[in-house]
Amino acid sequence: MDHPSEFTDIPAGKIAAIVTYLEMRAAPEAGRDTAPLPGELRRVDEPDLDWYLDVYRHIGTDLLWFSRLSIPRIQLLSTFSDPDYTVYALNCDGRDEALLELDFRNKGECELAFFGVSPEFVGRGVGRALMDKAIQLAWAEPIDRFWVHTCTLDHPRALAFYMRSGFTAYRRELEVADDPRLTGVLPREAAPQIPIIE
Ligand SMILES: CC(C)(COP(=O)(O)OP(=O)(O)OC[C@H]1O[C@@H](n2cnc3c(N)ncnc32)[C@H](O)[C@@H]1OP(=O)(O)O)[C@@H](O)C(=O)NCCC(=O)NCCS
Repeated sequence: MDHPSEFTDIPAGKIAAIVTYLEMRAAPEAGRDTAPLPGELRRVDEPDLDWYLDVYRHIGTDLLWFSRLSIPRIQLLSTFSDPDYTVYALNCDGRDEALLELDFRNKGECELAFFGVSPEFVGRGVGRALMDKAIQLAWAEPIDRFWVHTCTLDHPRALAFYMRSGFTAYRRELEVADDPRLTGVLPREAAPQIPIIE
């Protein structure tokens, strides 16, 4: 689908999203006031996969997050065992409510690989406080580029949130995938706002 037509038919059983890539080429000015993180942010070295996938589902099932659920566990273990890949979790009252993943495996740059707050904490200032932390952690390393991608299945305020955070969009793509609710990767009831088309 190199040159999709004006209206491109998506086959039944598939989902489709527009992915936007954004980057920042220098650390933004520090110093604006943010809400404090409502819990403890900790770095999780070589996370246990069952724990990780549980938190991932808690944050992303309502948004049809499936990429981590459909790759082989061995691949995920290999990513997590790389010292240049870091996972942070925010614990609030004994439950992990947000994930922040920074990928430094490509020299000179950092990808904000996963970033999300659980549905219970969305819109309460946690995302902003966590983003400030992400920016601080990323630019503390010798990088000249910090980048992220988000898609139209993510939270509807995510793209604007990244732009307000100092990221600039530079590329857009159409992603088509098997509906994870039809392949059994996610429960059929997940993300009812996105209808299943069989
Ligand atoms: C996109 C996402 C990270 C945004 O985080 P959020 O916690 O919902 O957003 P916030 O509440 O921090 O931010 C909204 C704004 O309201 C402000 N705000 C909201 N509640 C606040 C509070 N109680 N105190 C202070 N500020 C508050 C924030 O400062 C922010 O303003 P700003 O962007 O101008 O600084 C979050 O919605 C999310 O994780 N969604 C699910 C997963 C997802 O889609 N992730 C992105 C995938 S790439």
